[in-house]
Amino acid sequence: MGPVPHRSLAQAYPVLGLRITAGPLALSGLDDATLIELADLAADGIHPDDQMPFLYPWTLTPPERFHLQFLQHHWGVRSRFSPDAWDLDLAVRFEGQLVGMQGVMTRNFLATRNGETGSWIGRRFQGRGIGTLMRQTLCALLFDHLGFEQITSAAFSDNPASNAVSQKVGYRPNGIERKLRGDGWVASQQYLLTPGDLVRGSELTVQGVDDVRRLIGLDD
Ligand SMILES: CC(C)(COP(=O)(O)OP(=O)(O)OC[C@H]1O[C@@H](n2cnc3c(N)ncnc32)[C@H](O)[C@@H]1OP(=O)(O)O)[C@@H](O)C(=O)NCCC(=O)NCCS
Repeated sequence: MGPVPHRSLAQAYPVLGLRITAGPLALSGLDDATLIELADLAADGIHPDDQMPFLYPWTLTPPERFHLQFLQHHWGVRSRFSPDAWDLDLAVRFEGQLVGMQGVMTRNFLATRNGETGSWIGRRFQGRGIGTLMRQTLCALLFDHLGFEQITSAAFSDNPASNAVSQKVGYRPNGIERKLRGDGWVASQQYLLTPGDLVRGSELTVQGVDDVRRLIGLDD
């Protein structure tokens, strides 16, 4: 028997081989070089100091620990990846420039066919329509290529941009939850998107989807 051929990282963890383009936008898996660049972008600022869009206030991590904690979070996402519980976090590039992250989090996906989207964009790139484009693109990928039947999202009531993006992409309001944030309880608007409601953007070109389908337990 000859030597066993080496596998690339992307063969072993196909999220790294995923690439989706839609008009000026490209989404791709988070390799380490992209992660450290994303950490720099996040450290430059995602929101004003007096606002907190995230339930877990990771953006308040002191600068001396910020990059390592950011990397460890995303390495944790990789290390925990299994068909029962997986998150798909993708780098977002607009006209070739790294601008943020768009992801989806799932639990028991093969039964629920459901997941919750989450995202952020570096402050200097916000307010130009990129948040809407990247959510449209991810949702089209999930419905058309990865077997999703529903997608949820949530936004605090004091986050107008995130609420606006969900509504523009076609999500419907789906109740309000009370969440405990650092400054006390806050209303969290829940959203639900079904395939027929998705407001679509540019057509998608996808690479590496077949291997990701196998990774999450589809096509077995
Ligand atoms: C939420 C986020 C991803 C949206 O991305 P974006 O590129 O800024 O969003 P877009 O430019 O596509 O659209 C934003 C929409 O919000 C609206 N909006 C923004 N601020 C608003 C305000 N203060 N009041 C009302 N509407 C507002 C904009 O008018 C726009 O809608 P329009 O195109 O119909 O005018 C981005 O702002 C971000 O990263 N915010 C900080 C992190 C965050 O909140 N993440 C989500 C956690 S749930």
